[in-house]
Amino acid sequence: MQVSLIILAAGQGTRMNSDLPKVLHRLGAAPLLHHAMAAGRALDPDRCVVVTGHGGDAVAKAALAYDDRALTVRQEEQLGTAHAVLQAESAMAGAGGDAIVLYGDTPFIRAETLEAMIEARARHAVVVLGFNAADPGRYGRLIASGETLDRIVEFKDATPEERSITLCNSGVICADTATLFRLCHKVTNDNAAGEYYLTDIVALARAEGLSAGLVLCDEAETLGINTRAELAAAETLFQARARAEALENGVTLTAPDTVFFALDTTIGRDAVIGPNVVFGPGVTIESEAEVKAFCHLEGCHISRGSDVGPFARLRPGAELAEHVHVGNFVEIKNAILDEGVKVGHLTYIGDADVGEGTNIGAGTVTCNYDGVMKHRTRIGKNVFIGSDTMLVAPVTVGDGALTASGSVITEDVPAEAIALGRARQVNKPGLATRLFEKLKQLKAEKAKGQP
Ligand code: UD1
Ligand code: MG
Repeated sequence: MQVSLIILAAGQGTRMNSDLPKVLHRLGAAPLLHHAMAAGRALDPDRCVVVTGHGGDAVAKAALAYDDRALTVRQEEQLGTAHAVLQAESAMAGAGGDAIVLYGDTPFIRAETLEAMIEARARHAVVVLGFNAADPGRYGRLIASGETLDRIVEFKDATPEERSITLCNSGVICADTATLFRLCHKVTNDNAAGEYYLTDIVALARAEGLSAGLVLCDEAETLGINTRAELAAAETLFQARARAEALENGVTLTAPDTVFFALDTTIGRDAVIGPNVVFGPGVTIESEAEVKAFCHLEGCHISRGSDVGPFARLRPGAELAEHVHVGNFVEIKNAILDEGVKVGHLTYIGDADVGEGTNIGAGTVTCNYDGVMKHRTRIGKNVFIGSDTMLVAPVTVGDGALTASGSVITEDVPAEAIALGRARQVNKPGLATRLFEKLKQLKAEKAKGQP
């Protein structure tokens, strides 16, 4: 069955008290919008249409960053959820099959739940995702008998008896695409809120003699984000799930509660993640790699058998081949480290290529920035970079070469050469003793002179 997604993300999110559109606030280092798109992506959708409004350009950009085939449409005025869905009609032209409506601010809907809804479509023209609410608050109430749904009544329009119902609308709706738009066109705004309610399509379907059905999910899945406090609570929930998932996938977490994942963190089986590791977006780690305590990783790849940290920072574009060792207080950015490279201590490697088997000594810095532009450092295979070498880019060090400790390397180093880029040492016999005596004498004179 062909499926498309319509993601509603036009609302302002007033209660976030923010200049940022609500769906761009981050959960698991990713915009809320990406979470909704991720749940839908598992269905391999034919189209994904994101309805934007407040902060529309930024929201559209975020949608495309997640899926460059996503279509974005603008809802100029937020006249209600059915009106929002109708904005997607032109972008959906020619799309057959079903459409699932999701909210951009509801990040925990699971792919399995959406699959259950599609499956229920075999029995019903319109399928609504409902849940039993502990505190039904202002949710829309589902008027149903068994799996069959009669109508949805919005809180504002509900009678006291209807308000006492705890079976609520999550907002997720699935219908045949053509039926969805046809019914949405029939929706009016004759209600307490003066809005075009998407929820009205249930009663409209029933009036046409079509059947409407209900799929239930856990309340936790339907959690929507409206405030910063809810966002913080959602982060806790997201991390708990991500940790459990990693453990289930065969990743060792020595202190799971202290590890923070991003939405797209991917870690292979038998990898080991120590305490207090933070993943930003875009990290992939292969099997049998180890990340020791207190590392911060983003936009990087760590291959099988490599180890990183403790206290290392891998920034976007850091690519570690197999059996690379990155030790403490090392920062790596936009650099490719080939197999077996060792960068043990206190080093910055940025905008660089490092050939296999090369050893980078403590305190090495690739001086990649001249104040205006960035330049690349190229280090060959089996090179020995002495401690405290400054590699002033652009610069190349040939295979098998060695740089002497403390060198400032401003010129290319040929293969197999030793480069010495430092002042020659001079020893002055006895001078240290004489200097200390003089300094002590000066100190004593100064103390005497003072009142
Ligand atoms: C909606 C449902 C309600 C359900 C609840 C679950 C309707 C009429 N009501 O109510 O039954 O229990 O969600 O959370 O659908 N949006 C737009 N454009 C609009 C209006 C809304 O894009 O014109 C987006 C919002 O940004 C949000 C989503 O649609 O992501 C839901 O809108 P919201 O105003 O939060 O609806 P609720 O009143 O919560
Ligand atoms: Mg809401």
